[in-house]
Amino acid sequence: MLDFNSIEQLDKVATPFWYYDMDLFRRTVDHVAELSAEHGIKVHYAVKANVEKRLLEYISGKGFGADCVSGNEVLHAHSCGFPADKIVYAGVGKSDKEIYQALQLGIEAFNCESLQEIYVINEMARVCGLKANVSVRINPDIDAHTHKYVTTGLYENKFGISRHEFDKLIGLVQKSENINFIGLHFHIGSQITRVEEVYALECRRVNEIVAYFERNGLEVKNINLGGGLGVDYDDPDENPIADFGKWFGTISSNIALHEGQTVHVEPGRSLVAQCAALISRVLFVKSGETKNFLIMDAGMNDLIRPALYGAYHKIENLSAAMRPFFPTHQAYDIVGPVCESSDVWGAGRLLPLSVRGDLMAIRSAGAYGQVMSSRYNMKDMAPAVFSDAMDEAPSRTDYFAV
Ligand code: LLP
Repeated sequence: MLDFNSIEQLDKVATPFWYYDMDLFRRTVDHVAELSAEHGIKVHYAVKANVEKRLLEYISGKGFGADCVSGNEVLHAHSCGFPADKIVYAGVGKSDKEIYQALQLGIEAFNCESLQEIYVINEMARVCGLKANVSVRINPDIDAHTHKYVTTGLYENKFGISRHEFDKLIGLVQKSENINFIGLHFHIGSQITRVEEVYALECRRVNEIVAYFERNGLEVKNINLGGGLGVDYDDPDENPIADFGKWFGTISSNIALHEGQTVHVEPGRSLVAQCAALISRVLFVKSGETKNFLIMDAGMNDLIRPALYGAYHKIENLSAAMRPFFPTHQAYDIVGPVCESSDVWGAGRLLPLSVRGDLMAIRSAGAYGQVMSSRYNMKDMAPAVFSDAMDEAPSRTDYFAV
């Protein structure tokens, strides 16, 4: 259960805001630290899911590494306590400046996504008189059975290097004197719910690919399987922590390792999604010709997932839950203030009778929420409020008591 402190306390805060239940966050990270140690799996947190300093400092303090996808993420992760030799950097389009900065920092690995990128990194390292650690991202052509926008491991996707270039790749790595080849990287998609089926298949494909590289003279020390573990958006209270036991168990029983090899994973969403809610207030209740609208002060500029992926987020009326008599329920289209018809939090949602000023929680918003928000329509950016630092939250000002 997400701990909302008291509704009275939340009610004093200016909306919208991102509310972080730090207790649930720490419990999730601690659980993953313990389980991954038992399985001998190394965890790199995928920073892109949430870049809040307080979260990153806690995660780095637990000894996790960081998986980054831009030069700024690399620098930010480093400033939040991740040592350079625990930072890996993926992405199909690394700019010269980004490569240069990461080279100077001496990161654990560039996860390279094309032959040309390997060539450029080798040249840049030569000019700088350095050696770059390189892992190669492979496209294994596996269907992750998830939304097509977050599917990354099929041949039709832009990510990784695919089979027809393996021999060229091996030749290039062998003759590149300023790179130090350390392993292979895979990431086939996000919000994967068919965990056993998809990861068992991924591991079997990875075993074949690793064997091919080693037969051809490249020693694969690190096998990085990427992230992707899904969370329960339908029922976050029933499943506040994703099933890491199932994920790690599936990997351990399907991956073939020999002496000197280590498995790495890069969870983002599953570490942070459930610990936060976007808290918003009902501005107006409007009865349309065919439906009732609840118009909220948070919109698609704050959390774009419903508009972009048609994603479902559970929505609760926190204020109604406090009213003395159990109110009747009604179907609402819950919408934001942005001038786009896709700015809908949920259509036809059954909620207790709701009124202007009610506080609403849009659940499971900790991953790909705050990081993807924008100032579209020149809206203010919603601040983060932490359950263990409520005194730092911005206070609500009522302009008119209506
Ligand atoms: N590793 C790499 C190379 C990635 O590209 C990603 C996510 C991850 C790890 C972490 O995956 P996770 O454990 O979070 O599934 N904005 C979308 C999700 C995009 C995921 C991008 N890559 C959403 O809101 O659903």
